[in-house]
Amino acid sequence: MASHNLLLLPGDGIGPEIMEEVKKVISWFNANGGTDFTTEEGLVGGSAYDAHGQSISEEDMAKAMSADAVIFGAVGGPKWDDVPYDVRPEAGLLRLRKDMELFANLRPAICYPALADASSLKKDVIEGLDILIVRELTGGVYFGEPKEITDLGNGQKRGVDTQVYDTYEIERISKVAFELARTRNNKVCSMEKRNVMKSGVLWNEVVTQTHKNGFEDVTLEHMLADAGGMQLVRWPKQFDVIVTDNLFGDMLSDVAAMLTGSLGMLPSASLGAPDAKTGKRKALYEPVHGSAPDIAGTGAANPIAMIASFGMALRYSFEMVEAADLLDKAIANTLDKGLRTKDIAAGGETTVNTTEMGEAIIAELD
Ligand code: NAI
Ligand code: MG
Repeated sequence: MASHNLLLLPGDGIGPEIMEEVKKVISWFNANGGTDFTTEEGLVGGSAYDAHGQSISEEDMAKAMSADAVIFGAVGGPKWDDVPYDVRPEAGLLRLRKDMELFANLRPAICYPALADASSLKKDVIEGLDILIVRELTGGVYFGEPKEITDLGNGQKRGVDTQVYDTYEIERISKVAFELARTRNNKVCSMEKRNVMKSGVLWNEVVTQTHKNGFEDVTLEHMLADAGGMQLVRWPKQFDVIVTDNLFGDMLSDVAAMLTGSLGMLPSASLGAPDAKTGKRKALYEPVHGSAPDIAGTGAANPIAMIASFGMALRYSFEMVEAADLLDKAIANTLDKGLRTKDIAAGGETTVNTTEMGEAIIAELD
């Protein structure tokens, strides 16, 4: 079995607490799952700032660039409110995303049977839900120029953001979506607003063309993004993979994520382009939630989003589908047994702390 190098960046707040549980999972797979992961650890965010005044050091950046995958905890918090903007904790994560060119953000929305009652939607709408949002992460209106507020001189100001997409950006994100769909239910829905946006017209055109160039075995449909938002809430199970731009993806992935429950449950992956020689993608895996400073140090953090993010690494960076399925099953079984961290407890179940939840998942793996 080939050896894979993981860079662990716990960060600050609850980041280090939930990373401890992932380390146990990694050790479990090395001991019992036939994997050979080597790990290195680095500092990012507040922990890096406290140690050396930067949100991530050049040395750790270099490690991230050469790692087979980065496993990232969380960063940020009021403790660093007054540090300069470019070295604030969140800057470390943005630097990683930018330098590693992580253009494809994957956010699954999976309904664990035991939590089907926890959604704000009716049980039959979300029971068995398993969809994947693929959001373009490095282009679009968050980055396009001009981006400014100008003074019009008549007591008025003008705020401008610009949505820009080039062919190659749309092509590479749609390829990721088609390739992932092939590992799932073979269906992609592309969302834009071609009815009112030129970038939407191009988006639609390029996705359609990419589909023709080698992905015709995958079913492709198109939906206007606002209608897509409505359909996500009405009947989310109609979707398999959704591919969309940075702005719509930001909103739609939050909607999709919340169909199924708590922030403490939601993993994510961010992928770069395949290396020209090896074909391997740079990748960073992190929970969707932040550093939860309000509960840091209390043992209340739910480690599932973090552990499931490692599960996504198994699936998407290392093609260890069986191992990933096993880990997902261990999480589902743990929940089936009624174990809950506080954030997902509805009353009547056994409330456990971070370590106990991690160990229960290990026991299920056993
Ligand atoms: P947050 O996600 O840290 O917390 C929101 C709420 O959810 C809090 O009440 C928290 O206790 C709870 N929560 C979050 N994760 C949980 C878990 N695993 N288990 C149990 N409860 C959990 O978002 P918030 O409070 O808006 O931001 C806190 C800090 O985190 C800020 O500095 C923010 O910038 C940063 N942040 C960092 C992110 C990252 O590292 N990728 C993402 C989002 C926010
Ligand atoms: Mg967002």
